[in-house]
Amino acid sequence: VCKSRSALQAALNNWKAANKSWGFVPTMGALHQGHLSLLQQAKEEQGLALCSIFVNPTQFNDPKDLDAYPRPIEKDIAALEAIGCDLLFLPPVKEVYPTNWTAPVVPLDGLDLPMEGAHRPGHFKGVVEVVYRLLELCQPKALYMGQKDFQQYAIVGKMIRELELPVELHCAPIVREKDGLAMSSRNVRLSPQGRALAPALYQSLQAMQSASEKEPQAKNLVEQAQKSLQAAGIQEIDYFEIVDGYNLQPLKSLENTNFAVACATIRIDGVRLLDNQILKKI
Ligand code: PAJ
Repeated sequence: VCKSRSALQAALNNWKAANKSWGFVPTMGALHQGHLSLLQQAKEEQGLALCSIFVNPTQFNDPKDLDAYPRPIEKDIAALEAIGCDLLFLPPVKEVYPTNWTAPVVPLDGLDLPMEGAHRPGHFKGVVEVVYRLLELCQPKALYMGQKDFQQYAIVGKMIRELELPVELHCAPIVREKDGLAMSSRNVRLSPQGRALAPALYQSLQAMQSASEKEPQAKNLVEQAQKSLQAAGIQEIDYFEIVDGYNLQPLKSLENTNFAVACATIRIDGVRLLDNQILKKI
């Protein structure tokens, strides 16, 4: 476990001297099997797995959310040991953001504006800043991000291309509970009734995928999905959109596109639940 930049640098220098390469998984902790699967993939593919746990203050719009973010660090360390993670970077804020450090300006071409961006102003600016900084410090060969946060993955990819950062980006599949609910550290905040409703989101995405084999119009597909959520008792849908997977612009039809992704966020008991489904990728 390295808590300072200098300790991390020393550990990475040893790996470099031994000609090793490593895969990197940035997280905010409260680790579940979703996070751990990224680390397992990183280790399998790169030989060594490096994890960071850093609750990044610059990506929270609400300071109460930042304070309330769970930090079960002993449990996280045990989980990382159990899966054979090689190194954990666990820095305090001042190690990540020393006063003389400034973030680069990254043109995102509006990828940060729709969906999560519209509901969480400034959020992706903070994500880009911290992922850039962590890459600078952790120098991995490959970076692993979850498809679960599809917009985040797309934006990090854009940053890597714009700044020509020397790192491969890998997208890891969504890990789910048995009933289909995407794993998230927020799931524990659901009431028993809310938890019972939550799999309806995944079910609506699955139904949309089947329906999309016959129905190409995005508007009709989205209407069906919204109706099914409402019928299941879900009132609050922040958004439900079918977008182009590269530029995140809404699609009218699945016919003339190579990459279509349905992205949705609902709220149950005040908890925001995100999920998505790739409908088409050629
Ligand atoms: P966090 O929410 O801790 O997620 C860390 C990584 O785990 C992200 O790449 C996320 O997409 C992935 N992940 C979360 N749940 C998953 C699931 N059920 N299946 C597969 N992967 C899953 O995302 C962040 O942290 C932060 O924004 C961060 C990138 C660390 C920057 O602060």
